[in-house]
Amino acid sequence: MSETKKLQIVLGGTSGMGLATAIALGKQGPVLVAGRNEKKLNNAVEAMKNAGVDGYGKQCDISDKASLADFVQYALSIAPIGNVVNAAGVDAGSSEMIWKINVQGTINVVEAFLPYIDGSCIVNYSSITGYYYQPTPEEIAIWSAPDADDFFEKSLNYVSTKEIDPRMAFMGPQFLTYIASKRFVQYYTAANALRFGRKNSQIFSVAPGSFDTPMLRENTEEAIAGIERGTAFGRLGRPEEMADFIIKLLEPGHEYLTGVDLILDGGKHAMGTIKQYE
Ligand SMILES: NC(=O)c1ccc[n+]([C@@H]2O[C@H](COP(=O)([O-])OP(=O)(O)OC[C@H]3O[C@@H](n4cnc5c(N)ncnc54)[C@H](OP(=O)(O)O)[C@@H]3O)[C@@H](O)[C@H]2O)c1
Repeated sequence: MSETKKLQIVLGGTSGMGLATAIALGKQGPVLVAGRNEKKLNNAVEAMKNAGVDGYGKQCDISDKASLADFVQYALSIAPIGNVVNAAGVDAGSSEMIWKINVQGTINVVEAFLPYIDGSCIVNYSSITGYYYQPTPEEIAIWSAPDADDFFEKSLNYVSTKEIDPRMAFMGPQFLTYIASKRFVQYYTAANALRFGRKNSQIFSVAPGSFDTPMLRENTEEAIAGIERGTAFGRLGRPEEMADFIIKLLEPGHEYLTGVDLILDGGKHAMGTIKQYE
């Protein structure tokens, strides 16, 4: 009797690195992707099918718990849940929107799927920019109670009292909320290691540097040229390179990996923080 293959899930799997990850995960079983925009969702399902993937799509907004609950029920109707990759994220819009999706959305995803994770893994997408935000001890105390009634307001208000790291200032002051949100993703992932370990399951995050996706292409050509010069290889990462990194880590043999943030950035962080030998 053939064993039912588990369902691989990618939230934010309709574009950029999430879509590349969904296609790569197709080797492990059926893949279900989520996003808010219906057209992008349909295109992603078509792209998966063209790549030979047993692909499914369902609209879902990860910042909305009810939408996520529906999505989980749909996922369970396809196959038992396997790995869950959360690539959904935004770097523009109001601070409130960024916090709702990147911070509350990440919490929602973990809480919605943890009951069904059994010997598999949740992978969150953070960002290299998260390393340019240092939470204070008082802020860590807020972050350590994500289920508190006032968590959202308190954590977001705290960010507004701080200033952006001078090395990130070229992105504009509004970028502060984004980098803080990604630092939270790293923290929250690490803080969940024990909950997942108790279920013989894993959680880790990946921190992309600069990858050639629709999100990054919103920058000017001049800004992109500067970003490329800030890597050891003088180029952006390709979404498929991130996808390949993730699926290799999800293959058997890496079961001891959990609670960490893994950087894939073409040397961007090294170049930005350490004087390079000539
Ligand atoms: N590109 C980079 O260089 C870079 C660098 C560091 C970190 N990252 C992070 O890597 C992740 C992927 O980035 P990307 O560049 O591949 O972005 P992208 O091409 O803009 O794709 C983002 C995906 O997230 C979905 N999404 C956004 N908000 C959502 C929500 N509330 N609920 C469900 N889905 C949602 C989008 O679909 P809809 O809009 O239809 O919902 C889309 O599928 C993001 O978390 C980003 O912050 C990217």
